Amino acid sequence: MSDVFFETDFGKIFHGDSLQILSEHVSEHSVDLIMTSPPFGLVRKKDYGNVDADEYIDWFREFGKLFKRILKEDGSLVIDIGGSWVKGQPTRSLYHFKLLIMLCDELGFHLAQEFYWWNPSKLPTPAEWVTVRRIRVKDAVNCIWWLSPSPYPKASNRRVLQPYSDSMKDLLQNGYTAKKRPSGHDISEKFSINNQAAIPPNLIALPNTESNSYYLRYCAKHSIKPHPARFPAGLPEFFIRMLTDKGDLVVDPFAGSCVTGQVAEKLKRNWICVDTVGEYLQGALGRFENENFKTKGPQEEVYYRIPRPGSLWGDVEDEEPLPSDGGRTRPPKRERKEQTSSKVSGEHKNRVSNPPVVQYRMFEKPNTEYGDNG
Ligand SMILES: C[S@@+](CC[C@H](N)C(=O)[O-])C[C@H]1O[C@@H](n2cnc3c(N)ncnc32)[C@H](O)[C@@H]1O
Repeated sequence: MSDVFFETDFGKIFHGDSLQILSEHVSEHSVDLIMTSPPFGLVRKKDYGNVDADEYIDWFREFGKLFKRILKEDGSLVIDIGGSWVKGQPTRSLYHFKLLIMLCDELGFHLAQEFYWWNPSKLPTPAEWVTVRRIRVKDAVNCIWWLSPSPYPKASNRRVLQPYSDSMKDLLQNGYTAKKRPSGHDISEKFSINNQAAIPPNLIALPNTESNSYYLRYCAKHSIKPHPARFPAGLPEFFIRMLTDKGDLVVDPFAGSCVTGQVAEKLKRNWICVDTVGEYLQGALGRFENENFKTKGPQEEVYYRIPRPGSLWGDVEDEEPLPSDGGRTRPPKRERKEQTSSKVSGEHKNRVSNPPVVQYRMFEKPNTEYGDNG
């Protein structure tokens, strides 16, 4: 019996457990890129069976072995994984770091590079630690582990260049005097050559604020619950462009609403998506209807302006004392209110930088239902 749920020019969606499906349908060393966001080891589970942080490594091991088997020697495994909190305590789980160590130390993957996906629309959670007791800050990045069977996976950063920042444009226009940095690093004249674009850092700034897409309208029209933990298309697109050529094979073993398949189709890569939940795949069909997946052309240029730490910091004499119990007890309600409407003195108000210019975004309005993934 075939488990193929849907087929396009370039790809196939399978309904079932990817351990079984990929073992049966994908040959050894045939895959160029596994691009995926597995269920995270969450304290507060979503409704598709996240595994406890404690059991996560054992659960993932068999997938890791399978991924190693089906990947080409110069292929890549890219895992988008969010951190998690220890239950009832303001400390972080180490599960995603343990996963990385297991994949490298036990299964022999190389860490080609770690990336951080900054989602400007992340909500300030867990509220208890972040907004009530105010003893932790907002967790706004997911880790992305880029792993490879060999230390030299196929890759080129030329595929994912980005526009120069204003300061770099200024430098290119007005020149730069070659000199040593305080670190001792020699900044040579080469930095004033205009290459028309900049090499991106390993920090990817992408909001997760989809609210009016064809996919969502398709789900609404067919009374399908949209996938609750989708990643934005820009994320798989970055890695598919950087790590594969046209005609290569891209696999997403935890495909959800098949964002990876949609992007791979658009970029003319062959692809396979697998998920255990039929309803998510029903929704995914909307991504392949009416040529809706075709390239839109270059995206608008959007920059984020992140305040440098310090613009609101005041005189040490005005500092509020830290909670002496490390936040073990909740502050009384009245105090909490005062803390929320944080005092910003006149002097500090003036130090807040100018309002953002049009093409800059300080933050994205969180979409409370879909602003998170994993
Ligand atoms: C974080 S979600 C992926 C979301 C996806 N990146 C998107 O943007 O729509 C993880 C998915 O893994 C699926 N899943 C969990 N265990 C699986 C398994 N053994 N085989 C296939 N899919 C699985 C879940 O049903 C869930 O949809």
